[in-house]
Amino acid sequence: MAGDSQQQSWVLMVTAQTPTNIAVIKYWGKRDETLILPVNDSISVTLDPNHLCTTTTVSVSPSFQQDRMWLNGKEISLSGGRFQSCLREIRARACDVEDNKKGVKISKEDWSKLHVHIASYNNFPTAAGLASSAAGFACLVYALGKLMNVKEDESQLSAIARQGSGSACRSLFGGFVKWIMGKEENGSDSLAVQLADEKHWDDLVIVIAVVSSRQKETSSTSGMRETVETSLLLQHRAKEIVPKRILKMEEAIRNRDFASFSQLTCTDSNQFHAVCLDTSPPIFYMNDTSHKIISIAEKWNRSEESPQVAYTFDAGPNAVLIARNRKAATLLIQRLLYYFPPNSDDLDSYLQNFPPSSYIIGD
Ligand code: ADP
Ligand code: DP6
Ligand code: CO
Repeated sequence: MAGDSQQQSWVLMVTAQTPTNIAVIKYWGKRDETLILPVNDSISVTLDPNHLCTTTTVSVSPSFQQDRMWLNGKEISLSGGRFQSCLREIRARACDVEDNKKGVKISKEDWSKLHVHIASYNNFPTAAGLASSAAGFACLVYALGKLMNVKEDESQLSAIARQGSGSACRSLFGGFVKWIMGKEENGSDSLAVQLADEKHWDDLVIVIAVVSSRQKETSSTSGMRETVETSLLLQHRAKEIVPKRILKMEEAIRNRDFASFSQLTCTDSNQFHAVCLDTSPPIFYMNDTSHKIISIAEKWNRSEESPQVAYTFDAGPNAVLIARNRKAATLLIQRLLYYFPPNSDDLDSYLQNFPPSSYIIGD
């Protein structure tokens, strides 16, 4: 390794930023826990990069004694299988890197001997049902791939991010993304593809209603494991319902058909939470405030000629509301302000940036 005979002081660094994604047809349940292979296809929308996102800096230096990671400023262990899978898969694809300014030359083979330090920061609540694992692992894999000069395309990288957290495979792309469950036992065909880019349907406005930023009691990983073990409704959902729904959702997205998009999104969110209730012991991710938001959206949609808003809730109480356009988003915020009056400090900041991209209701 050129450079290491001088001083062992060089550091190479890459920083990446990745938005989170919210599923409109949910992934819930694995057929393989280690490789993270799902029981059904899923479809998501990737948020605007200025919205909820993860920023990750990865660095490498001969002076690093071991791989280490800090999440939101606190050191976390990398010993878990998921981090190890991502690091192993990226290292296996690493290529030569040359930094002439620093006089550093790293050959393919060197990467297995070098250690990395990772610092990651989420600009939104971690482990609260806003898909931090999705943005987090997608960003980690992307940043490591850049650092190690990995030549794989986004879909191939998505199959690696998937091994960190299933939902992460969809955050490698913007716009609407499908995670194809795949058939192979080794997971090689379980990856994400882009259905439509971010410009395809740019009338939509996404508003996140933060009901609680507290960490959820049941992680997505253990929640879906319990569901697979105990829910018969999940079997029916995965085999009979989702395959047809995926086709309809693809069509709705292709045609920018908001009525169909909204109906499918809301129904799928509700069925996912029904499957959680069908788990033994039952898992409650939504709370009374979440239910109130559903009622407000349903009532409003039914009072109009066609739906104005779609709602979806991941594994947590926080609402993701997708308004059909800017006008509908303004009316939606007015409704939220009416039903959940904020304190005056919050109100000022909402009004300065109207319509806001997130709206804090609880906490
Ligand atoms: P969420 O609904 O936020 O995705 P999960 O239970 O699915 O919640 O995942 C939370 C876990 O994801 C965290 O405990 C952590 O292990 C991992 N995670 C969150 N953010 C990051 C990040 N920026 N980088 C790497 N891993 C992360
Ligand atoms: C409800 O991807 O967080 O958000 O694969 O175990 O890390 P692991 O789970 P995760 O589960 C996401 C579940 C969901 C729906 C979705 O994003 O499709
Ligand atoms: Co998650």
